[in-house]
Amino acid sequence: MSQIQEMISLFRHELELCNLKPQETLAVLTEGGERSEFADAFIAAAEEIGATAFRIDVAKATEGGLENAGQTSLAADRRAIEKLKEANIVIDLMFLLFSKEQIEITDSGTRMLLVMEPFDVLKRLVPSEDQRSRVEAGERRLEKAKEMRIISEAGTDVTYRLGKFPVLTEYGYTDKPGRWDHWPSGFLATSAFEDGVNGVVVIDKGDIIAQPFMEYMQDPITLIIKDGYIKSIEGPGDSAKRISDYIASFNDPDAYAISHIGWGLNELARWDYLDKAEPEIRGWGMDARSFYGNVLFSTGPNVELGGTNNTPCHLDIPLKGCTLWLDDELIVERGVVIPKDMQVSGVGAQGI
Ligand code: FE2
Repeated sequence: MSQIQEMISLFRHELELCNLKPQETLAVLTEGGERSEFADAFIAAAEEIGATAFRIDVAKATEGGLENAGQTSLAADRRAIEKLKEANIVIDLMFLLFSKEQIEITDSGTRMLLVMEPFDVLKRLVPSEDQRSRVEAGERRLEKAKEMRIISEAGTDVTYRLGKFPVLTEYGYTDKPGRWDHWPSGFLATSAFEDGVNGVVVIDKGDIIAQPFMEYMQDPITLIIKDGYIKSIEGPGDSAKRISDYIASFNDPDAYAISHIGWGLNELARWDYLDKAEPEIRGWGMDARSFYGNVLFSTGPNVELGGTNNTPCHLDIPLKGCTLWLDDELIVERGVVIPKDMQVSGVGAQGI
């Protein structure tokens, strides 16, 4: 099978998971003519199913992307936004996450799937109904929880007061009107009350800053958090200064806020992908974010979950080997998933 045929076949499987029906319309969104191979393959896959498919390519008007989360070239193109709202599903190949445009489109009932990773990563991290049911088992608990506590041997001890914001599930496909997802993924998250995060988070040596650096940290970084904001960033090596300088460069008090928090449940995701993959196929760090038994800590905006902080400074920091409770229930113990209905085939930890 040629790579194009392989891509069409994989994308068709993905669209079937998304329950794309022959009478539905699929839109593929790209920017500046980029990622045409993916766009063409998604359109071919949708047409194989019998659906109507079209592509909208918007002119590049802003840098956007993960470096400027929430600022998109689509904002300047009202006609394109209206056309996307008419589709049943939008395949986002340009990155609308954290933007008002994304919320407007999904609020109209259009479901949306973000696809950013290289083909090799997509191929390895194919979603499944099993993964979805395990993520949803987590969702049922997280929706009811009033407090999350996370500790680690490195020194993390932090609590999140929960109950204000909804739960975001990501299991790699979307078949419900208005629902957003990201392929690949396999985790869940929520945000605390804006003033409801207190304690210490230690990003340990070997933890990954998936956004913005895509690197393992070489030395520990201690964040002191009070009432939802980072008050100090310290550490024995260069990493603390690097993070501190990065956040300070936005010159924005909201950049110090604590963002989403949750844990990973994707047993196919690999912690060692940064070491193993060639730079051009390293992708965007979804392996680290989704890693089975991780804790995904993050800072910056909370607009995606319905808050008002729209700072463009967003850090995603998967932490390995933590222990996490929801109220009195142990969910992850030193990186091992504890509840049976979240475990894959009864396995607590993958250990890679
Ligand atoms: Fe994030």
